[in-house]
Amino acid sequence: MSETKNAVLKYDGKEYQLPVKIGSEGEIGIVTKKLRPETGLITYDPGYGSTGSCSSAITFINGEKGILRYRGYPIEQLAENSSFVEVMYLLLYGELPKPQEMKDFEYNISRHTILHEDMKKFFEGFPPNAHPMTVLSTMVAAMAAYYPKTDYAEDRKNNIIRLLAKVPTIAAFSYKKSIGHPFIYPDNSLDYVSNFLKMMFAIPSEEYTVNPVVKKSLEKLLILHADHEQNASASTVRMVGSTEANLFHSISAGIHALSGPLHGAANQKVIEMLEKIQKDGGDYEKYMKMAKDKSSGFRLMGFGHRVYKNFDPRAVILKKSADDVLKALQVEDPLLDIAKNLEAIALEDDYFVQRKLYPNVDFYSGIIYRALGIPTNMFTVMFALGRLPGWVSQWKEINDDPEFRIHRPRQIYTGYNERQYVPLDQRS
Ligand code: CMC
Repeated sequence: MSETKNAVLKYDGKEYQLPVKIGSEGEIGIVTKKLRPETGLITYDPGYGSTGSCSSAITFINGEKGILRYRGYPIEQLAENSSFVEVMYLLLYGELPKPQEMKDFEYNISRHTILHEDMKKFFEGFPPNAHPMTVLSTMVAAMAAYYPKTDYAEDRKNNIIRLLAKVPTIAAFSYKKSIGHPFIYPDNSLDYVSNFLKMMFAIPSEEYTVNPVVKKSLEKLLILHADHEQNASASTVRMVGSTEANLFHSISAGIHALSGPLHGAANQKVIEMLEKIQKDGGDYEKYMKMAKDKSSGFRLMGFGHRVYKNFDPRAVILKKSADDVLKALQVEDPLLDIAKNLEAIALEDDYFVQRKLYPNVDFYSGIIYRALGIPTNMFTVMFALGRLPGWVSQWKEINDDPEFRIHRPRQIYTGYNERQYVPLDQRS
């Protein structure tokens, strides 16, 4: 990373030199840190489309070329060859683990999968139809009460392992609670993903064996969701973390950010949209028309991305994976055909072509989750489970950053100028 060049800003007859920061992939940012103290000006970028909020060594995206890499490794290679736990390690510590490091990491996580028994009582307090994302964010925030030590690096390290280990348990318990089944305790003899599947789908009265197709497919889904640089939820985690809030509060905030339909909940909304189209007898035209009509309030869910303007590499992998998984599990899902038809129509449509709108990660993921037996209201929780190591890595990076500063954006005020208070009885 270098800061050798300058950009020049001319304003009101004066010239200001602004240093430029160049990333390892040639991305260029104008450094405006001293802009306000030196000039009184601020930058204005609602939605932060042209703003770099930090420098980061975790994930690289080139949206024009459809490139996504974690710590330099292409997503395609990781999805094909790695495991979710290995990717967790890579994101957190920057390198692929050596065999002993991998063994120790897996062992450490497996020692922390059980929840404090008192935490189970929380589940009883939620109404039966509580959304599992609400349950997840609440339980993650509540972990701060059980693991309050944060002063030393060792505390933070332990809390990271606890969080990675317990989120699958919380997620599975929230599902079991919603269907009135008994909780299935973690089985530490199993790997991370198999253990999660067992907690989700086993019942105490029957044998449970993990289907290798389901496991492999879930590993891939989780890897594809594991990080995505400065998206809304990761930025939320960094924002909250910048106040020196503890890990659990910061990640809980990230889960809340993910719950919005423009972000993580899009996967649930895609399936709901495809079901609607199916019920409507496959009337694609009607939905395309609505998606293009701003007054309809309807968007084609699973389409479009702030960063990807060519294709989303995760969606490409998932489209193929959807075919493979459904075939291997002998599942026939008419929603897959509806999705493919809709995609084909949208990709030919001028509105979508001009705006560079392509299927994103959420377009096909829901169809795979359905085939794996995961209910629709758990889809965003699955996204959260996948994104967890990314959030934790972003939180860790900000805590280790020598340039660490509380995040505190400025604004352009557009409200009233000063006016005088009028007592209640004198207001007409
Ligand atoms: N359907 C119809 N029109 C769209 C869509 C869509 N899905 N997405 C964007 N547009 C239009 C938008 O109306 C705007 O049109 P115009 O230029 O005429 O005003 C133009 O395309 C640019 O859109 P934008 O809203 O300015 O783009 P953005 O970068 O602010 O938003 C987005 C990105 C993902 C929020 C948006 O594309 C969207 O709402 N997509 C649907 C929800 C979705 O699938 N979200 C998941 C995102 S990927 C996973 C994740 O990050 O969680």
